[in-house]
Amino acid sequence: MTDQTPAPVAPAAPAYAGPRRILSGIQASGALHLGNYLGALKRFTELQDTGAPLFVFVADMHAITVWQDPEKLTAQTREIAAAYLAAGLDPAKATIFPQSAVPAHAELAWIFNCVARLGWLDRMTQFKEKSGKHKERSSVGLYTYPVLQAADILLYKATEVPVGEDQKQHLELTRDIAAKFNNDFGAPGFFPQPEPLIQGPGTRVMSLRDGSAKMSKSDPSDLSRINLTDDADTIAAKIKKAKSDMDVLPDTVEGLDGRPEAKNLVAIYAALSDTTREAVLAEFGGQGFGSFKPKLAELAVTSMAPVTAEMRRLMADPAEIDRALAVGAERAREVAQPVVDEVKKIVGFWQG
Ligand code: TYM
Repeated sequence: MTDQTPAPVAPAAPAYAGPRRILSGIQASGALHLGNYLGALKRFTELQDTGAPLFVFVADMHAITVWQDPEKLTAQTREIAAAYLAAGLDPAKATIFPQSAVPAHAELAWIFNCVARLGWLDRMTQFKEKSGKHKERSSVGLYTYPVLQAADILLYKATEVPVGEDQKQHLELTRDIAAKFNNDFGAPGFFPQPEPLIQGPGTRVMSLRDGSAKMSKSDPSDLSRINLTDDADTIAAKIKKAKSDMDVLPDTVEGLDGRPEAKNLVAIYAALSDTTREAVLAEFGGQGFGSFKPKLAELAVTSMAPVTAEMRRLMADPAEIDRALAVGAERAREVAQPVVDEVKKIVGFWQG
C-alpha cells in the first residue's frame, strides 16, 4: 500500500508568522559530561537574555527508551535540573520543567507518529548506533524517539533549538514533520520550521582518549570524558592524561587537519574561554602540549569547578530544584495546552 496522505501543495505554503521561541532539552539518563556542557548547557545560559522566551526541559520520557532504574530516575531528573540552575539558568527567566509533567508531549507525539513515515525513521543514524546489532530487542520507543523530540519542539512552536551537532538529523526530521502536518491538514504556517542553533567550537566535543570518537557517557573509559560530577583534581588529571601528539601546536586551524586530538583540545579551550580556535592558536601556536595542557587544565577547572560545586550543593537539598521544576511545569502546561487543543481540532478529534 502506498502513502495515502495528501500530496504536497504548490505553491509554497505561507511562512510561520508567530513569535521567536527557544527550546531545548537533555535526557535524564545520568552522567552529564563536558560535551553536554559546551554543546548545550552553556549555550542555554547564553540564550536566556535574547528577549525570546526560553524553554528548557529534562527529557525523562526520552530517557526510558532504554532501561532506567525507577529508583534512580527522579534523582537523574533532579540532576539535570541542578545542572541547568548551576550553569546559570534563572527560573524567573527560563521555563525549566520535566517533560513527563506536561502530558501534551505524549499526546502530540502520538499524532506525529501518524504523520512521520517509516522510511524517515529508518534513516535515523542515532537509532542504528543505539540499537546496535540487536535491533529487534530495542524498545519501540527508541525507534520513535525522534518523533517525540519533534513533539517536544513543536508543542511550544519553538523557532530555535540550541543543540550539539549529533542532533542535526533529529532537527531535520522535526522540520519534515512540521511541513507534512501543515500540508496534510491544510494548516499552512501552523507549525514553524525550527532552526537548529549549532554554533561555535563546542558543538562536537570528542573523547579525551580518541579524537575521532564523540565524548559520550556510554564510553567505557571514564578517562575519555570530564563528568559534571568530577572534582577539580579529577578534571585536571584527566586533561593531563588526555591523548595528544608529539608536535607543537600550529599557527592556523588548517594546521590541525589530521591531528584529531590536538583539534579537540584546541576546540575545548576555545569553547571554555568563549573565543575561536584561531584566537587560541594565535596564543599557543608553536608551543607543545607540555605547556598547553596545564593551561587547559587550569581553564577547565576554573570554568567547571563552580558549576560542579553548585550542582552538588543543589543535589544535597533538592527542595530548590523541585520548586523550580514545579513552577516551570505549570508555565509549560499553560503554553502547551492551547497548542495541543488546536492540533486536536485540526486533526478532527471530537470536541465535546
Ligand atoms: P542528549 O541528552 O544526548 O544530549 C544533550 C545535549 O548535549 C549535546 N551533546 C554534545 N555536544 C557536544 N559534544 C558532545 N560530545 C555532545 N554530546 C551530547 C547534544 O547534542 C544535546 O544538545 N535528543 C536530545 C534530547 C532532546 C531534545 C529534545 C533536544 C529531547 N527532546 C528537543 C532538543 C529539543 C538528546 O539526546 O540529547
